[in-house]
Amino acid sequence: TQQHQMATSFSCSASTKLTWIFALLLILATMIQVRAQPPTAGFVNIDCGWTNSSAYIDNATRIVYRFDGESVEGGLSHEISEELMAGAANEQQKTLRSFPDGSRNCYTLTSIVGKKYLLRALFTYGNYDGLNKTMDGSPFLFGLHIGVNFWESVNLTNTDPSDTVWKEVITVAPSNAVSVCLINFGSGTPFISALELRPLEDTMYPFVNTSVSISNFQRFRFGNVTDPITRYPTDNYDRFWERWPDTSYPWINLNTNNKVESLDNVFNVPADILQKASTIDTNYSHMSVIVATGRNQDGKSLQLLPIFHFADINESNLSRRFDIYNAEGLLFPDFSPLRFQMVSKYKSGEFLHADAFFNLSKTPSSSLPPLINALEVYSLIRMDNLTTDSDDANYIKEVKTHYSLAQRNWNGDPCSPREYSWEGLTCDYSKSNQNPRIVTVNLSTSRLRGGFAISFMNMTSLENLDLSHNNLTGAIPDYQLQSLKFLDLSNNKLDGAIPDSILQRFQAGSLDLRLEGNPVCSNVKDTYCSKKKNTTSTVLIAVIVPVVLVSLLVVMGILWKLYREGKSGDDEDSAMYEEETPLHIDIRRFTYAELKHITNDFQSIVGKGGFGTVYHGTLENDDEVAVKVLMETSIAESTDFLPEVQTLSKVHHKNLVTLQGYCQNKKCLALVYDFMPRGNLQQLLRGGDYSLNWEQRLHIALDAAQGPHFSCVFAFRPCMYVCVFFFSRSCMCVLTKDGFE
Ligand SMILES: *[C@@H]1O[C@H](CO)[C@@H](O)[C@H](O)[C@H]1NC(C)=O
Ligand SMILES: *[C@@H]1O[C@H](CO)[C@@H](O)[C@H](O)[C@H]1NC(C)=O
Ligand SMILES: *[C@@H]1O[C@H](CO)[C@@H](O)[C@H](O)[C@H]1NC(C)=O
Ligand SMILES: *[C@@H]1O[C@H](CO)[C@@H](O)[C@H](O)[C@H]1NC(C)=O
Ligand SMILES: *[C@@H]1O[C@H](CO)[C@@H](O)[C@H](O)[C@H]1NC(C)=O
Ligand SMILES: *[C@@H]1O[C@H](CO)[C@@H](O)[C@H](O)[C@H]1NC(C)=O
Ligand SMILES: *[C@@H]1O[C@H](CO)[C@@H](O)[C@H](O)[C@H]1NC(C)=O
Ligand SMILES: *[C@@H]1O[C@H](CO)[C@@H](O)[C@H](O)[C@H]1NC(C)=O
Ligand SMILES: *[C@@H]1O[C@H](CO)[C@@H](O)[C@H](O)[C@H]1NC(C)=O
Ligand SMILES: *[C@@H]1O[C@H](CO)[C@@H](O)[C@H](O)[C@H]1NC(C)=O
Ligand SMILES: *[C@@H]1O[C@H](CO)[C@@H](O)[C@H](O)[C@H]1NC(C)=O
Ligand SMILES: *[C@@H]1O[C@H](CO)[C@@H](O)[C@H](O)[C@H]1NC(C)=O
Repeated sequence: TQQHQMATSFSCSASTKLTWIFALLLILATMIQVRAQPPTAGFVNIDCGWTNSSAYIDNATRIVYRFDGESVEGGLSHEISEELMAGAANEQQKTLRSFPDGSRNCYTLTSIVGKKYLLRALFTYGNYDGLNKTMDGSPFLFGLHIGVNFWESVNLTNTDPSDTVWKEVITVAPSNAVSVCLINFGSGTPFISALELRPLEDTMYPFVNTSVSISNFQRFRFGNVTDPITRYPTDNYDRFWERWPDTSYPWINLNTNNKVESLDNVFNVPADILQKASTIDTNYSHMSVIVATGRNQDGKSLQLLPIFHFADINESNLSRRFDIYNAEGLLFPDFSPLRFQMVSKYKSGEFLHADAFFNLSKTPSSSLPPLINALEVYSLIRMDNLTTDSDDANYIKEVKTHYSLAQRNWNGDPCSPREYSWEGLTCDYSKSNQNPRIVTVNLSTSRLRGGFAISFMNMTSLENLDLSHNNLTGAIPDYQLQSLKFLDLSNNKLDGAIPDSILQRFQAGSLDLRLEGNPVCSNVKDTYCSKKKNTTSTVLIAVIVPVVLVSLLVVMGILWKLYREGKSGDDEDSAMYEEETPLHIDIRRFTYAELKHITNDFQSIVGKGGFGTVYHGTLENDDEVAVKVLMETSIAESTDFLPEVQTLSKVHHKNLVTLQGYCQNKKCLALVYDFMPRGNLQQLLRGGDYSLNWEQRLHIALDAAQGPHFSCVFAFRPCMYVCVFFFSRSCMCVLTKDGFE
């Protein structure tokens, strides 16, 4: 019996034909005669593209609409095509403004700072350009910004040209103006048909604040409703409540003429909406409300906030309890609507990632099935991007008005979002939680004429102002410009005295001033009036300074190197002395300078060997030494030098020269031995001043063989070699049959 328990109804409308307004018109026309109009104070109603500056009263709503000339710059006004004109139900649909130029075009509507508003933009393409853009198969869409933050895209691809699409946002005015910008995505010319701003009570939609706005995803009312859209004057705030499209059986419509109390001031749902509801037949227990993504609406990435409005309007005293689910789970358990009193269910500030799929399920204890009166679903808009500092924005807007700079892209917020910032401005975004400030204004060669705009002088963050190559006349006003570091007024028609405050700052070096090419310079010879400086300085500074700096660095580097090389002396030597790890041996370590001194600047060479040159030297105590300086090539490969020194220093033998000391650092690698005045062994063996007889030679050989560190004694026939290797390199003596070699 339970197979068909679920009654499903869904809607996906976000746009509608021109005809709905026609239907509405008829109904309201009859109502208006009986009912007094609620106040429209604070309503801003703009019929975009309407060219007659006198306002008109809308036939259906009795709301006064005005042309858009005061709230927008640029754009072209158009009328929808002839054939669709006849079907138009109101004036707003008939005209529109398109923006073929510029990537961002903004409407600015006067508001009260900090006040909450409902803002609605309406779009009726109406084939105004005769290009059949919505139906030609190519994408036709553009973006909307609310202030400096992305709101939604308007996707008109494959829509009927007579469709009216609307977008609503609830937002807090960041300043004394709310702006709506149309963003050209490169997929068709953005346009707009009407703009409506409605003030809300501060208590309404409490989760909306300066950093969170909400965009209307869907807003429906239930029950047997004739008008496709319920709005003003039924709703004091002129929200658009669409009629739930499908209330056929097993859905059942309820309505009452009794007053339904609404104690809350959070949503102020119109009484008329609360007096109607939908429920289902009693043998069903689930009501599914699927608010599908509207046509051409991108619902995937949205974060949604549903708000349910309930009032039990059946006289029955039987219990009515139900659970409210979304696709992800239970949202509100065991809810029981009050009789003739509205209750709204929502999770304040909690946005869901799931689809807008809702299920109202009767609880087991309930006698009656679920019921619903109205449903609002909003999507989250983060207002993370901050508007330009309001003073800066106002002053630069004054400048814009002062010089009639309408033809520039100076539209919307000056600094934000970054990619749409005004041409010629540089802003400081560095303080992430503070509003961007204007630091540079470059209006060079902008055909400015007239006096100097004093508003510049109040921009307290302005550092760099370039107004050169214009036709500015008059005098420079004497205002304090504390932040200003660069002021270029060259090539204008300025005359009159230069204010002292500016001259003083120039002379103090805190302001870079350019005035050449102005009448004021005709008899001033100061540098700020010198032409040379103007044409060359900025370019040349940019080029020359780096070049000079680089050259200087190179020269200094060379000089430093030369200086270091020239200073071959003690400092470096001792530095190197310090940096080397000392050997743990108890012989003396010499520095290069000491060796130089000992050897009298390496003057007397006593021998040359594979290792290097041996010099004669005299120590401080007059001991003679032989200083064996290793050749540079061998320094590089002297990894075994230190072990060798270490070993030699431990060897003390009557037949071996004593190692007195050594020198070891990057510059010097040397061994200092006792000096043997009779030459080295080779000289001795070869003969010379002292020749040795055979006996002496044999003694030497035997003494050598007794050396503690000889490695090998080779005996070969016919010769006998006695080789004493001190490590691999040095063969000390060779004994042959013919004598020593
Ligand atoms: C519910 O009751 C109606 C009659 O009131 C009947 O026509 C319908 O088939 C029933 N539905 C179910 C699911 O039992
Ligand atoms: C503007 O509207 C007024 C009143 O509706 C009308 O008298 C006037 O002729 C219109 N002007 C133009 C240029 O259409
Ligand atoms: C509004 O009413 C006036 C006359 O009252 C009529 O001329 C005009 O066409 C109507 N406008 C629309 C859009 O129906
Ligand atoms: C617009 O284009 C569609 C599809 O190409 C075509 O069916 C329709 O007749 C065109 N309408 C107009 C007014 O040109
Ligand atoms: C804020 O601005 C940045 C770039 O300026 C943009 O990429 C980003 O989408 C903006 N954020 C919102 C929420 O619009
Ligand atoms: C809706 O109400 C109208 C009268 O206001 C009535 O004629 C119509 O039958 C009702 N429709 C439904 C489905 O209840
Ligand atoms: C615009 O709508 C068309 C038609 O529904 C769709 O194919 C397209 O993906 C949408 N584009 C965007 C960017 O949402
Ligand atoms: C309304 O209440 C009556 C009892 O007072 C009950 O018989 C009827 O079924 C209820 N209607 C709905 C639609 O719940
Ligand atoms: C519902 O209960 C109230 C009192 O609680 C009573 O006055 C009223 O008549 C009852 N209505 C029905 C339809 O039983
Ligand atoms: C704005 O509201 C959101 C929740 O809706 C909250 O998380 C946030 O802190 C609020 N921000 C401010 C500045 O009040
Ligand atoms: C600049 O600020 C001063 C006070 O701070 C004010 O009196 C003056 O009117 C301002 N000037 C402009 C051009 O707004
Ligand atoms: C200044 O104005 C004259 C005409 O008044 C014009 O010829 C000239 O080009 C202008 N100079 C600049 C820099 O705009």
